[in-house]
Amino acid sequence: MKMFKTLCICFLFGIIQPSIAQVSIVGAGKKVDPYHYAVVKNGQFRRASVSSAHPLASLVGAAIMEQGGNAFDAGIATQLALAVVYPGAGNIGGGGFLLARQSNGELIGLDYREAAPSKASRDMYLDKNGNAVAALSQFGHLASGVPGTIAGLFATLPYAKLPFKTLIQPAIDLAEKGFVITEKQVNSFNSERDAFIKNNNHPIAFVKEGKWHVGDTLIQKDLAATLKRIQKDGAKGFYDGETAALIVAEMQKGNGIISADDLMNYTAKLRNPIEFDYRGHHIISFAPPSSGGILINQMLKMIEKYPVGSYGFQSVKSVQLMIEAERRSYADRAEHMGDPDFWKVPVKTLTSDTYLAERMKDYNPDKAGSSAAVKAGSIHESEETTHISIMDAAGNMVSITTTLNGGYGCKTVVGGAGFLLNNEMDDFSVKPGVPNMYGAVGGEANAIAPGKRMLSSMTPTLILKNKKPYVVIGTPGGTTIPTSVFQGIVNIVDFKMSASDAINKPKFHHQWLPDAVMIEKDFDANTKKQLIAMGYKVTERDGIGRTEAIRLLSDGKRETAADIRGDDSVAGF
Ligand code: GLY
Repeated sequence: MKMFKTLCICFLFGIIQPSIAQVSIVGAGKKVDPYHYAVVKNGQFRRASVSSAHPLASLVGAAIMEQGGNAFDAGIATQLALAVVYPGAGNIGGGGFLLARQSNGELIGLDYREAAPSKASRDMYLDKNGNAVAALSQFGHLASGVPGTIAGLFATLPYAKLPFKTLIQPAIDLAEKGFVITEKQVNSFNSERDAFIKNNNHPIAFVKEGKWHVGDTLIQKDLAATLKRIQKDGAKGFYDGETAALIVAEMQKGNGIISADDLMNYTAKLRNPIEFDYRGHHIISFAPPSSGGILINQMLKMIEKYPVGSYGFQSVKSVQLMIEAERRSYADRAEHMGDPDFWKVPVKTLTSDTYLAERMKDYNPDKAGSSAAVKAGSIHESEETTHISIMDAAGNMVSITTTLNGGYGCKTVVGGAGFLLNNEMDDFSVKPGVPNMYGAVGGEANAIAPGKRMLSSMTPTLILKNKKPYVVIGTPGGTTIPTSVFQGIVNIVDFKMSASDAINKPKFHHQWLPDAVMIEKDFDANTKKQLIAMGYKVTERDGIGRTEAIRLLSDGKRETAADIRGDDSVAGF
């Protein structure tokens, strides 16, 4: 794979494993070596590229396109590879959203979010005194919704060109032959060791005798067998037969409620994307059950009448305006948003010019606003999700955000099947109207009901300029996802930044409640001081989001950028 103008190679992984023969994978040319690879933060590619949370997954996606696949093929192969090499969030036991624009201009919004099992009920996470029990909605079997990812991949397949068996083979190889884990993964597996042991009553691949060390190889034989069943039997290899039986048996070992019927009845759904214009650009993003598309629509439209570009990047003037837009949008999120098949989400009103002008009527550029003056509430979401951005040679744009919710989901691996289950049930309002363990409250719109999909913040997004492909962008980060995408778009459109700068500059986040601005540690110190002087409560925190973006340059090259906050990495040709 020839890469043009690689700007940064940060780390190299490649400790030779004497016990394992080195076998490169993917296609006749064997493009990917799981034992020697590098994290590549950005590059410009003439034909096609991928940015994802793990170098091997990006390399697999790019290699699939190089052997004749399009961006949908790469989307399928990259997600499957991530389920093996990035088990903290990549998954087959979770769910996600795919947003795409085909080269003919047709849009596709594919919802494969997890669903509440048929035995789920509104108060299932309350104790006998009516108190929310976070341990039940966040850990172990009961925390898991019915997984949607495999249904999503098969719903994507009609848009792809290569056979599914080719697209899943790299993931099978990575699981069966193993790959060298990164230093961040070494640390992550070691720190999760106790939680893994507590939530599993059988040996799992992520726990080994003693500690993990840099240069170790992770082999996942049970997962490889599951992937082979999917390769052989299609979606039935997951939702029926041996894999489904293993999931149901695992449920019975704990307090889980996912049944064989729940698995058989799961379907991915098409959703019409949210679309709007912002300063001459056409923005396309995901509709409910994601809150993301509506939120970025609201926030961008609230700031559009102000000359943000002339205020200066991260000047107090631009940041304060954006914070106030964030505050107002997130107040709406809790009250009005949920699964549209169960709750009427007033999308038109929430995104109308009149409504948004009314929301900003009390905006004061000299003073901090107050969340106490705004009704409704917000909910907590975990930040361990993952995003893939892809652009192919034909001009197909694919933006996929997928999740187990918490890091390693509910931390329970399906015995004998080798994959982690999600803890997405915690994205419901466990107790509507009452603050949860994070001090935030959720609304009736997102109450638990059988078959319902929990509200998400995942915001896979596309930008067109002059009606042509321009940017593919998205990020993990729970409730910080929409504000990260919002800031990424403003950085590109208003501050004219490269994709790399747009995603890597320090971020800030306000979600109405708690009434505080979170900033990353390297946020502008002077702006921070001025915000505090205006009356804002400002708290520092670790990295916000891990955004992946691709921007089509006027010379036709795909400027491809991976977030510097993790092992995120680009590949292309
Ligand atoms: N679990 C993260 C999200 O869906 O927003």
